[in-house]
Amino acid sequence: MSLWGGRFDSRPGETLWAYTTDVSDRRLLADDIAGSRAHVLMLGETGILAEADVTSLLDGLEAIQSEAVGGEFEFSDSDEDVHSAVERRLFELVGDTAGKLHTARSRNDQVALDMRLYTRRAADERHEQLRAYALVLAEIAESHAETVVPSYTHLQQAQPTTLGHHLLAYAWMAVRDAERFAGAGRRIDVSPLGAGASAGTSLPIDPEATARELGMAGVFENSLDAVGSRDHLAEYVFCCAQAMVTLSRLAEEIVLWATSEFGRARLGDSVSTGSSALPHKRNPDIAELVRGRAARISGLLAAMMTLQKGLPLAYNRDLQEDKRLVFEADDTLAASLAAMVELLGQTEFVPVDPSVETASLDLAESLVGRGVPFREAHEAVGKLVLTLEGQSRSLLEASLEDLVSAHAAFDEADLVLLDPATSVQRRISPGGGSPESVHTQVSDLRRRITSS
Ligand code: ARG
Repeated sequence: MSLWGGRFDSRPGETLWAYTTDVSDRRLLADDIAGSRAHVLMLGETGILAEADVTSLLDGLEAIQSEAVGGEFEFSDSDEDVHSAVERRLFELVGDTAGKLHTARSRNDQVALDMRLYTRRAADERHEQLRAYALVLAEIAESHAETVVPSYTHLQQAQPTTLGHHLLAYAWMAVRDAERFAGAGRRIDVSPLGAGASAGTSLPIDPEATARELGMAGVFENSLDAVGSRDHLAEYVFCCAQAMVTLSRLAEEIVLWATSEFGRARLGDSVSTGSSALPHKRNPDIAELVRGRAARISGLLAAMMTLQKGLPLAYNRDLQEDKRLVFEADDTLAASLAAMVELLGQTEFVPVDPSVETASLDLAESLVGRGVPFREAHEAVGKLVLTLEGQSRSLLEASLEDLVSAHAAFDEADLVLLDPATSVQRRISPGGGSPESVHTQVSDLRRRITSS
């Protein structure tokens, strides 16, 4: 059913009708009914509709709601969108009174509301899911508080650290990704109902009342803004995109670590896939798909931005396209988070010793502790590494004589620094990689999650 036949002699043919309709909004059905219910209640409270009409409309909406909950609501190909479908069904159930549902309301403020109700709930779910994911990472990190591994810059070994520290970096990112959804959720929680098609209505509506009924924290300030803006949905897609990119970075490391070259992770059978051609293969497809889907979400974000760019105020039909972008971004993140939790649960992390050269900063800092300027200490250790390299020896094989000829301030005690485990214990700076710091970070993170 279309809601606008009056001023037309002919209607779009089947092909064009199909082109203009959008079935992706069917998942807004429950929110659309809730919005209509609040609207009808307000129309009754303000005296815009008579008691009998309100009762009849509410009964009809309740019946439609039961059909929706029971999965019995039937859409028709002739419904232009979810709003038209509900109104059509209301006509079938209560007759001509259904024509009063749209008093002081346009599909423009209606669809804006539906998307806000949907994403408000989705933001809560993603917030929760990301917090749970961060806790999973923190738990694994805690069990690897003492596991010494190299840290990297430029994908070259940098300093010794602990695997717990490395995994906690991802956990902290996930905490921020979660908190970002909470922030976006606050900006989404504003009711646009009452904005009308563009510039309000001459009827004495009460937008505060509908917002209250829907449990929304705020009400729009400007009707054109309320029906014509989608920045809150773009922000939502950004939240999804950023969280996906964070997942993708860990996924990439898992792919790398699972190679025989790195040998730092073994993936369980249930999270590995085989090759149809190569019998020996164990492929990390789950991590690769998370990485691949992060690319798709970044594309959705670009589409969301471009959708708004150059749009004159207020509502334009282009905005119908926002739904698919938001739904796809949200669905992809939700599924990817679930997949990553399973993947992490079935991944065995294999410690691989850092190369001894990663102790070079500890050697330099030891000189700094004796009053040598850092730049001079850096130069001396650099020369030591170069000399040993020229003799095909590693830092591990350095003798006290080698150290002292690199810098006179070295002494016997510095030889223990060549053990990465010692080096890690000394990494006591706040937020650093020592086992102690890992334990502190885990409890800080748990506290932050409880309060966010
Ligand atoms: N299906 C439309 C959308 O999603 C609803 C609003 C239609 N408004 C209009 N003036 N044609 O954007």
